[in-house]
Amino acid sequence: MTKKLIVANWKMNGTSKKIANDLGVYRANEITNTANVVIALPSPYLYLALGIDAKFKLASQDVSQFANCGAYTGEISSKMLVDFGVKYSIVGHSERRSNFGETDTVLIKKLENVIQAGIIPIFCIGEEQQVRDDGKYIEFLLKQLELLLQLKVDINELIIAYEPIWAVGTGKVPEVSQISEIANLIHSFVQKTLPRAKIPVLYGGSVSAKNIAEILQLNDIAGVLVGGASLNFDEFTAICTYA
Ligand code: PGA
Repeated sequence: MTKKLIVANWKMNGTSKKIANDLGVYRANEITNTANVVIALPSPYLYLALGIDAKFKLASQDVSQFANCGAYTGEISSKMLVDFGVKYSIVGHSERRSNFGETDTVLIKKLENVIQAGIIPIFCIGEEQQVRDDGKYIEFLLKQLELLLQLKVDINELIIAYEPIWAVGTGKVPEVSQISEIANLIHSFVQKTLPRAKIPVLYGGSVSAKNIAEILQLNDIAGVLVGGASLNFDEFTAICTYA
């Protein structure tokens, strides 16, 4: 099997002590200390990874829609993320779309900022259970993808993560055929509309050490975005054997 990209999303978890310790442990382990492992840290703890000289990469869980520094209380710009060695940025996670009302207009600005700063966006898309039950998920996902065509910057490198909302944090995982159907949809959309860009597709939503092999056997899936299971050392290490 080709090597896969394993992205951990630690969400709003941890303390400086725990995160400093975990980063050290992951750096010391050959399985986790590779360039195909990416860890999305809570922003206040990004500094803990500065200077640890690890092979794994850092991601941010979000970024400001505002590009330049200024009077934007509470915001973290893409330039600040670069300053902390961030290589990837999650944009449009379903938890941000639903809890913080992130609209397409905001997501377009976030994607543009990240790309301009030289960070690779991990753009999340995914439908709710109801949309799937109604059989409207293909048009729903295509609409989320079409946002990419509104960007005013060139897209050379971007990652798309398919994260069905009904699978995120629920323990419910789609059938492999359902994941494959969406991976194909994304790849053909990209081929038609952004043929020159490098756009791998990840799957996210209740990924675990138990289901990882089945998901990653799909050639169209370049890796996974892992939430809950990435907080457990043994489980995440097992997942990283595919990196
Ligand atoms: P989960 O989260 O693995 O806990 O379902 C995935 C995500 O939110 O990216």
